[in-house]
Amino acid sequence: MAKKYKVVVVGMGKRGMHHATTCQANPRFEVAGICDIDQKRLDDAAAKLGVAVKGNDAAEVARAVRPEVFCFCTLPNIRASMVKIGIESGAKLIAMEKPVALTSAEGFEVRDLLARSGVKAVVSHQHRYGEHYQKVGELVASGALGRIHTVYGTATGWMMHMLSHLVDYLRWFNNDAEAEWVMAQAAGRSKLADIHPSPDYIDGFIHFANGVHGVIECGAGAPDVPEVDYWWRKCRMGAQGTDGFAEVLTGGGWRAVTKAGASSGAGSMSYDLDMPPYIQEMAEWLDDDRRVHPCHFSSAYKGFEIMMAFCRSAAEGGQVALPLTSAADEIEMLKRSVPGRKILLSLAASAKEYTS
Ligand SMILES: NC(=O)c1ccc[n+]([C@@H]2O[C@H](COP(=O)([O-])OP(=O)(O)OC[C@H]3O[C@@H](n4cnc5c(N)ncnc54)[C@H](O)[C@@H]3O)[C@@H](O)[C@H]2O)c1
Repeated sequence: MAKKYKVVVVGMGKRGMHHATTCQANPRFEVAGICDIDQKRLDDAAAKLGVAVKGNDAAEVARAVRPEVFCFCTLPNIRASMVKIGIESGAKLIAMEKPVALTSAEGFEVRDLLARSGVKAVVSHQHRYGEHYQKVGELVASGALGRIHTVYGTATGWMMHMLSHLVDYLRWFNNDAEAEWVMAQAAGRSKLADIHPSPDYIDGFIHFANGVHGVIECGAGAPDVPEVDYWWRKCRMGAQGTDGFAEVLTGGGWRAVTKAGASSGAGSMSYDLDMPPYIQEMAEWLDDDRRVHPCHFSSAYKGFEIMMAFCRSAAEGGQVALPLTSAADEIEMLKRSVPGRKILLSLAASAKEYTS
């Protein structure tokens, strides 16, 4: 019988519960310990999941369980300290939420901790499992678009929530090519104090080593996606080539125009559909080093560096070369530099979020 992997989940909020319930439903995993600093959340989760070990201190829970998978779904202000706990617990794989970190300084620390330990890690960019994302991925890989010259992504949600996703899928549509430089602009200060700190609006260009350019708009000024009702899912991502284009709308299916004509299909981002394959592929990577998880850390880290480079370019002007070579606190850089002018919106529905 295939090995069953023990899991600890830290942070029993929305995403922690998604991870824990999906692991419990998968015969390859057993959630053996959970942790939250909020006692009620912890007790409610323990009752729902039927978990033996629970506690308010992640290191204690991890020491008691000695899991193969250390998963943490805390808010983005906690990253390196949790990765350390995961490594010290002896886990073989750390599953973390996006974004990788809030600053390049912490992102470098996380990268170096993982590299020194050799522990596998995945970052939850699980939208890619949606049937509509998969379809666009297949169309791009099939060559039906000809030579890809542009990949693009827009989202009405703000940077620390959404940019990580946009960059990850855009890199996928460009065959994970290396980025060489970026240039970006930012506006609006109301979300700089958020727990997912961000300028209200950031946009920019990415130059990839294969000559393809990436174009991103994220936040208050990003265009509406009128085909999608749910504000958080108003995201459009795709690729354009010499023979056509293909794009996915997070909440509204996919479409393509190629030499064969126009085509489209269904699909909408769904935690219920996207989490099971994301979790299953962790078991497969644990079983076999060659079956690297599509959401592996080193790929997510490259997207994270692009996001940090956007922030630096927006704060200081000009192009920023990649990979980054020195650590910085990009959110402080933005706090010092983003103008105080009133944000100009692209759609009225965004007024409740962007108040600067
Ligand atoms: N991948 C996705 O599609 C997706 C969607 C939403 C959120 N997220 C990300 O998931 C992460 C968590 O978001 P959420 O919506 O689940 O947040 P949440 O607020 O619902 O849950 C976070 C939980 O972590 C707990 N916590 C905080 N510090 C802790 C500590 N030191 N030890 C133990 N528990 C601690 C909190 O008490 C809370 O219960 C964020 O990074 C967010 O960006 C990802």
